Amino acid sequence: MTLKDAAREVRENAHAPYSNFKVGAAIRTSTGAVFQGCNVENVAYPEGTCAEAGAIAAMCAAGEREIAEVYVIAQSPAPVPPCGGCRQKIAEFASGDVVVTLATTGGVEKQMRVAELLPGAFDASFMDGS
Ligand code: THU
Repeated sequence: MTLKDAAREVRENAHAPYSNFKVGAAIRTSTGAVFQGCNVENVAYPEGTCAEAGAIAAMCAAGEREIAEVYVIAQSPAPVPPCGGCRQKIAEFASGDVVVTLATTGGVEKQMRVAELLPGAFDASFMDGS
């Protein structure tokens, strides 16, 4: 299954009764494995958990840590940009040149690299202190 098909498929499982905005995300790792995530909202915190965060959680739960490619899809007039928190979460496990494809269900795609999504990212090197 392509990353696009994996993201499309999991989007159908999104739990988005508050926003009515279903998002699907799929990650391919350096081993070639694919992990899927959808957004899951709840009444107390209607923004819930993003699709990208769900896919990252599945990846980590499987013991994987190295993102090679990301695909995010939603029914939206333009490809949906990941929220700030998700950009940081993706950057935790991906090098700056990793491609993130943002897509609409209508077929529009936009590709961005992680370094473009989160320029000037905070990383562990800033904690060196010396
Ligand atoms: N959402 C995602 O899952 N990923 C994104 O990249 C943007 C936003 C979700 C969170 C919430 O469930 C809904 O979309 C509206 O913000």
